[in-house]
Amino acid sequence: MPARSIEQIRNLCKRRGFIFPGSAAYGGLGSFWDYGPLGVEMLNHIKRAWWRSTVYERDDMEGLDSAIITSRKVWQHSGHEATFSDPLVDCKKCRTRHRADHLTSNVCPKCGAADLTEPRRFNLMFQSHVGPVEASPGTEEELASRVYLRPETAQGIFMNFKHVQNSLRRKVPFGVAQIGKAFRNEITPGNFIFRTREFEQMEIEFFIKPPQFVKDGDKTDEQWHEEWISQRYNWWLSLGIDPSRLRKRAQDKAELAHYAKATTDLEYLFPDFGWGEVEGIANRTDFDLSAHSRDVPEADLARLKLEKNSDSTETFDYFDPDAKARYIPWVIEPSAGVTRAMLAFLCEAYHEELVKEPTPAEVDPLKAEIDAVVKNAEKKKKEAEKEPDQTKRKHDPAAIAAFTAALAEMAGRLPQSLLEIDNLLEDHAGAQNLEPAKKLKPKIARLAEDCVRVVLRLHPALAPVKVAIFPLKKNEPAIVDIGQRITRQLAPFMRVQYDDSAGIGRLYRRQDEIGTPFCITVDFQTLEDNTVTLRERDSMQQTRVNIADLKHLLMQRLHLA
Ligand code: GAP
Repeated sequence: MPARSIEQIRNLCKRRGFIFPGSAAYGGLGSFWDYGPLGVEMLNHIKRAWWRSTVYERDDMEGLDSAIITSRKVWQHSGHEATFSDPLVDCKKCRTRHRADHLTSNVCPKCGAADLTEPRRFNLMFQSHVGPVEASPGTEEELASRVYLRPETAQGIFMNFKHVQNSLRRKVPFGVAQIGKAFRNEITPGNFIFRTREFEQMEIEFFIKPPQFVKDGDKTDEQWHEEWISQRYNWWLSLGIDPSRLRKRAQDKAELAHYAKATTDLEYLFPDFGWGEVEGIANRTDFDLSAHSRDVPEADLARLKLEKNSDSTETFDYFDPDAKARYIPWVIEPSAGVTRAMLAFLCEAYHEELVKEPTPAEVDPLKAEIDAVVKNAEKKKKEAEKEPDQTKRKHDPAAIAAFTAALAEMAGRLPQSLLEIDNLLEDHAGAQNLEPAKKLKPKIARLAEDCVRVVLRLHPALAPVKVAIFPLKKNEPAIVDIGQRITRQLAPFMRVQYDDSAGIGRLYRRQDEIGTPFCITVDFQTLEDNTVTLRERDSMQQTRVNIADLKHLLMQRLHLA
């Protein structure tokens, strides 16, 4: 079973170095995240898998890396300055802000007051200025130097359509792929890294013939759209997403972005909040290339509801040698989020398995201690409630109530809930400053480590560490020497980790938790016959492999060869 909650993933990511809150030493900065040693590996693997499938494995694609900061004119003519906004309401009572289109009633979701302002548009683009400008907002000088951090990578591709087409002598149909950061000042970011203000996108703009130039044997825009939807859907499945948790959903007319004729979203079934978009595949027609072009026929401007563009020096058209005519190509755009993909792959891969049933002699004393923690917490809650000045309270009664309710529920599911209790004791606000809870924590953690295996069943191509190497004895120089030699031999080809900091069982557990597909153990038999134990993460099967065959075998099984 995949992850039951986003909290499980958040805990694992923090504990094992995938993702940390940004600017943490200063209390964090709303919904910005830093990707740690394992996180950056995984992001890179996602991007590599995407690039390989969309650029290397096709003969009609090129790559690009355009600037993040782009002229304001780009965003004026793309329509983003006028329309890339969300409706915002303020609660007049508790002063929180919400997206009006996410509210299910006219009541504040935070405090319940029916006292909300009228919705107003809030533009999602982050602004900055180029050069030493000190002008007031809205003045001529300010507007002339204003730039935006891109909210999508797509416009950089449109700007370079002709550069790529001419320099690589490409014929339509062809596409351009780009991976890069995008920024949106989201009103309600959240669900961990699902919706953030800084994120990464993997986007393709695929240029095709306009409908009036499509001949027998050519694909129509609708056929190209369908083909990309299924190509992209299969990519997610090929990296381990179960089809029962990935669906295609066509957007209805009201949802469509200002540029789209049709869009199909690929949605993943996340724990806690359900179906969420991980990729959108849009038919953007000739909207963007026309919007940035100087010379566009009046009829097309009227059809696309565009004003004539007198700022642009370019017309983004293409001479079709077969049709012997010039036209502005249409565009199919598959657009996926890298960071959102990481969350989906982590949720899919996360599994907890009870690998050893603890005895009643191990579980019963913990249950008794949990009862004592709950009783103590309730006593502290009552004491806190007696103090009328909230700033002087040692404990927050509401947090304690939430903590004891969760703990009592989890105690009823022991031993399956061992890890959940461990996380609850570590992180819950209601568990802070409760002495019995602090004493219970290491006992729960120890039993969890013995009995529960957390395993990330990541596709080998996405696993942050590919192989871990352990010496059976760290004070046996001959064994250590071979272990380090194998590490050096594999390191240029894959991320390897040499670890001698615990017993073999514990080392296996640690690698399972971060999704390492293979572990190698060097033992006394190695000294006799040059073989090592190769242990596979999912099946936990162990085989003896000759050291000379290791590299070739691993490269193949990790899809690196
Ligand atoms: N160029 C089209 C475009 O940007 P989008 O549906 O707004 O379309 C594409 O974004 C993808 O980018 C989404 O499917 C999602 O994976 C990712 N994405 C969008 N906003 C995001 C955010 N605030 N945080 C993380 N990922 C986001």
